Amino acid sequence: MGALLVDSSSTSVLLPELDRRYPMIVRGEGVWLEDSAGRRYLDAMSGGSMASTLGHGRRDLVEAARVQAERLAYVHNERLTNPRQEELARELVAVAPPGFGRVRFVTGGAEANEMAVKLARSYHVERGEPSRWQVISPAQAYHGPTLETLALTGRPGLQGPLGPYLPRHLHIPPSTQRIDPSGEAALEALDRALEEAGPENVAAFFCEAITAAALPAYTPPARFWEGLDERRREHGFLVLFDEVVTGMGRTGQWFAGNATPLVPDLIATAKGLGAGYAAIGAVLCADHIYEAVAAGSRKFTLGHTWDGAPLGCAVGLAVVNVLRSEGLVEHVRERGARLREELEDALRGIELVGEVRGHGYLLGIEYVDPRDGRSFLPPELRVAGRVDDVALERGLVILSTQPTRDGYAGDQSLFAPPFTTTDDELAEMVERFADSVRQVAAEVERELGAVPAGERR
Ligand SMILES: Cc1ncc(COP(=O)(O)O)c(C=O)c1O
Repeated sequence: MGALLVDSSSTSVLLPELDRRYPMIVRGEGVWLEDSAGRRYLDAMSGGSMASTLGHGRRDLVEAARVQAERLAYVHNERLTNPRQEELARELVAVAPPGFGRVRFVTGGAEANEMAVKLARSYHVERGEPSRWQVISPAQAYHGPTLETLALTGRPGLQGPLGPYLPRHLHIPPSTQRIDPSGEAALEALDRALEEAGPENVAAFFCEAITAAALPAYTPPARFWEGLDERRREHGFLVLFDEVVTGMGRTGQWFAGNATPLVPDLIATAKGLGAGYAAIGAVLCADHIYEAVAAGSRKFTLGHTWDGAPLGCAVGLAVVNVLRSEGLVEHVRERGARLREELEDALRGIELVGEVRGHGYLLGIEYVDPRDGRSFLPPELRVAGRVDDVALERGLVILSTQPTRDGYAGDQSLFAPPFTTTDDELAEMVERFADSVRQVAAEVERELGAVPAGERR
C-alpha cells in the first residue's frame, strides 16, 4: 500500500518545511508506526526525535497518566509541590552521578538547557562573582531552538536570521578523527576562548557528553576531558552537560555523565524522561550549586507554568519504573555494542560509508565522498535527505542531517531505536537501512563517476 503524504502547502498546520511531504501517522504500537493509508513503518528513530525510548502504545505508561490525571493533573510548583515531583526527583538523584542531590523540573530539552545555564549563572552571582556570564561550547552541536540554546551552538546554518537576538557565546571545534583526533587542538581553542573572554568572566563550558544529531555518537577523546577538568579547576567555571538525548538510558548508562572521565556540575535531560508520553525535562544539580544559593539569596530563578506538574512527573516515574524492572539500561549497553557491529557488517563494502559510531542505542553513520573515501560529500547531492527519503519508501523512519556548510561535519545518519525493540525488529531495521544506503550509494557513485571499489589505487 502506498504512503499518503501530506503536502505542507495544503494544510493549516505550519509544518517545518514547505517543500517536504509528510506521512500522516495515526497509530503506533511498539516500534511500528502506521499512516492514514494503513502503511506501516519501523521506527528506528524513537518517534523521530529519540524521545520514544520505550516504544509506542504502552498501556502501563498511559495508565500511569490516567490515574494521576484523575487524582490531580496539575498544580503550579511556585507555591505548591506534589508527591510525584518529590518522588521523581528522588529517583533521578539515585541514578545520577554521585554528588547530585537536587532536581529541577521543566517541560523540554531547550528549557532544561536554559535552566542549566541560569543555574550556573546564579551559582557564580551568589558566590560574589557577578562578572561570570560567558559560556564556551563546542560549535558542532544542537541544544534547542530557543534564543539562548541557539547561541550555544556555533552553527550559523542553524541560527539562520536570528543572529541579532543571540547572546555572543564562544565556540571551539569538535575533536573528531578528521579534525583533531588527540583533542589537543580543541584544548588550545578552549584556551584561546578563555583568553578572549577573560577567564574571570566565564560561567560555564557547555557540551553534550556524547553528541546526538549534530555529530551522532561522537564523544571527545580522553585527553580533552582531562584538559577540560584541569581548566575547570584552574579557572573556576562550571561544566554543564546537555543530556537531553543521552539521559535516561540512551547510551547504556542512566546518564552519559555517569561514565565520562569528568563529572559535570549540572546535567540537563528531557526526551527519554517522558518517553514520548509526557512533555517533561529536568536539570540535575550538583550539591555545590544548591549550597551556593542556599547560603546566598535562597531563591531560584523563575519557572514555567508546567514545571513539575503531577501529570508529567507521574509519567516520568512510570518510565523510571519500566527502565528498572525491564533492565533496559543494561540491555541497551550490552545489545547496543552488538547492534553497532551488525550495522557495520550490513554496511561493509559501501564506499559512501566512512564510519559507524555508537554508544548504546545512539548510533551514527558518517558518509564520505566515495572518490577519496574521506572528504565531505558535495552538499547539492543531498545524500542525507536522500537516505531518509529512500528509507521512508522502504518503510523505515531514520533521521539524517547535513551540517556541511557549518564546516565541521558532513552528511550523516542517526540510528536510535526504542530500547524495547526485539532482535527480529532490530535485524529488519538494519536490513532496511543498509538497503536504503546501498541504493543511494549506487546513485551517488554514478552521479559522481566514482572509481568503483577495488579499482582505486
Ligand atoms: C541534544 C539536544 N539538546 C536539546 C534539544 C532540544 O530539546 P527540545 O526540542 O525538547 O527543546 C534537542 C532536541 O532535539 C537535542 O537533540
